[in-house]
Amino acid sequence: MRNTSIEDNIANLTRQGILDGPTRIKRLNQLSERMGIDLWIKRDDEAGPSFGGNKSRQLEYYFGAAIAQGADTILVTGAVQSNFVRLTAAIAASLNIKAVVQLEERVENPEPQYYETGNVLLNQLLGAEIRYFKDGNSEDADAALYAYADQLQQQGRRPYVIALSGKTPPLGACGYFQCAKEIVEQSEQAFDHIIVGTGSGASHLGLTAGMKYYCPTTKVIGSCVRRPKSEQRQRLNRMAQQFNHLVDHPNYLNDADFHIWDGAFSPGYGKLSDKAGDALNMMARKEGFILDPVYTAKSFAAIPGLLTEGLIPSGSRVLFIHTGGLGAFFAYQKDLLAYFKA
Ligand SMILES: Cc1ncc(COP(=O)(O)O)c(C=O)c1O
Repeated sequence: MRNTSIEDNIANLTRQGILDGPTRIKRLNQLSERMGIDLWIKRDDEAGPSFGGNKSRQLEYYFGAAIAQGADTILVTGAVQSNFVRLTAAIAASLNIKAVVQLEERVENPEPQYYETGNVLLNQLLGAEIRYFKDGNSEDADAALYAYADQLQQQGRRPYVIALSGKTPPLGACGYFQCAKEIVEQSEQAFDHIIVGTGSGASHLGLTAGMKYYCPTTKVIGSCVRRPKSEQRQRLNRMAQQFNHLVDHPNYLNDADFHIWDGAFSPGYGKLSDKAGDALNMMARKEGFILDPVYTAKSFAAIPGLLTEGLIPSGSRVLFIHTGGLGAFFAYQKDLLAYFKA
């Protein structure tokens, strides 16, 4: 298989169509002027059902694999307000597959609405079976999911587990490899920089791999939303090995390919930073787009941050990937109101 290209090897993976077509790219005129760059937004918040988001692209490959294996139940794990989990529940509903969602308590002392509204409410509406998991590391969360999958199997069901700790190959990254191609086909001129949130790392890794393949002059920068930069780099390097293996090009991605920024990550996962609040505010008031406090506000904050640090030169052509997150927006009402009050 090594003689075949990465593109062909990815095309050979089983994929369940979820997106209706390419997502839109639009220029942000007021923010371009304000920041002194040529700034564009890719509307992956419109990808897929139930408020959409980046995970729809990733789930095309997980559902493809699940259906190919004859699964009738899909199990997924994520934070209580995970968008990945909500999209899994929505897509499973549309495919007549049962969804089991495991909600990990990653955020300390959240407000009551964190458990009641946003994606938790949507998971109920979408008919998913909801289970809770006291935060541990990803390995523990995956182990609990596999243990439940075993129980379901003993009851005669055919489960497929979407694990995030490294047991399953990073299939989701293939969705963003494809997205890189889509971006290149959509744009008349190459982007200098692409900014995307980096959490599980699948979107960041896939875009990095795809841009290296289709347009190597474009630098993809991941803005940390889940863990600090040094830990995220280790994670991406681990995933890169698995991705290289998956696409059968063992030396394709390496450490030097990853550009990571964590200037808006503090005070931690699921907690609104001032920089993220400012980014969310600026996007709403200048362009009318809504970002979410956990992922897209922190990823968009990278643009003013990198400009200030001189890592994006003025005049650059920059694409921000709006990865969604809107299903969770109202679950963070208290943090948002506190930000506006301050
Ligand atoms: C809205 C949103 N943006 C970005 C991310 C991060 O993407 P990834 O997990 O591919 O790194 C997530 C992850 O859950 C998300 O829900």
